[in-house]
Amino acid sequence: MSIQNKVVLITGASSGIGAATAKLLAKKGAQLVLGARREDKLQALTDEIKNAGGKAVYQVTDVTKSEDNEQLVQLAKDSFGRVDVIFLNAGLMPNSPLSDLKTNEWNQMVDVNIKGVLNGIAAVLPTFEGQKSGHIIATSSVAGLKAYPGGAVYGATKWAVRDLMEVLRMESAQEGSHIRTATIYPAAIKTELLNTITDQESKEGMAQLYDTYQIGPESIANIVAFAIDQPDNMNVSEFTVGPTDQPW
Ligand SMILES: NC(=O)c1ccc[n+]([C@@H]2O[C@H](COP(=O)([O-])OP(=O)(O)OC[C@H]3O[C@@H](n4cnc5c(N)ncnc54)[C@H](OP(=O)(O)O)[C@@H]3O)[C@@H](O)[C@H]2O)c1
Repeated sequence: MSIQNKVVLITGASSGIGAATAKLLAKKGAQLVLGARREDKLQALTDEIKNAGGKAVYQVTDVTKSEDNEQLVQLAKDSFGRVDVIFLNAGLMPNSPLSDLKTNEWNQMVDVNIKGVLNGIAAVLPTFEGQKSGHIIATSSVAGLKAYPGGAVYGATKWAVRDLMEVLRMESAQEGSHIRTATIYPAAIKTELLNTITDQESKEGMAQLYDTYQIGPESIANIVAFAIDQPDNMNVSEFTVGPTDQPW
């Protein structure tokens, strides 16, 4: 089954990579279920997709709350009759040196970037196991592959996503549940991601890097579409994607 008519849930759909992916998949005939916290953005995106002839519904969702994730899966079933793909993409990156002890931001990253992914997996796994099919895609980061100063906690959360997704792939294969997985490791992609950085030096450093190299979120949307579009018996599990000229 290709993208056409697939029911795809996206967390972090209100901006950046999630919004670009929603638009592209809708154009390719997918039925979208969109989650994030900012309702005005979700409403505008849903209207845009519908006005262009696509299918989309949304629900205000905080991925740190397990019940919000469960309700998003239920909305997919109520609206479109099933769930085929979940794109666990919500995340934030308030980078800072560990010595700044911005412990609230550390906890926020753990809650959204790790627990949010776990909540999404928990919400959808019984359905995917029951139907013996499904596709779980997550946005990690190149920060989940390479360490850098200022990115200790963000990187740790994205390393965790890498591990979770690989073990999910292995266990699904062992258990015969036919669940596909894909983990995406983006480099500098032009989105709202830098807005959550409160440490001035980290913000300026990242802004300089992004101003030099960044490419648009459509580049990641294309990868998500590629992963979904492969045959059901084929799993492409990892993609590292970034600007051609970005050395780091
Ligand atoms: N841009 C890059 O260069 C880059 C590189 C590597 C990895 N990534 C990863 O890509 C993913 C998407 O980020 P982006 O670059 O597209 O940045 P973005 O434009 O800031 O998008 C982040 C999304 O996450 C959502 N979000 C944040 N906290 C949430 C929560 N508690 N519950 C539900 N949704 C939440 C935001 O929506 P609301 O605020 O409306 O909730 C927004 O839709 C993130 O996981 C990020 O770590 C990005």
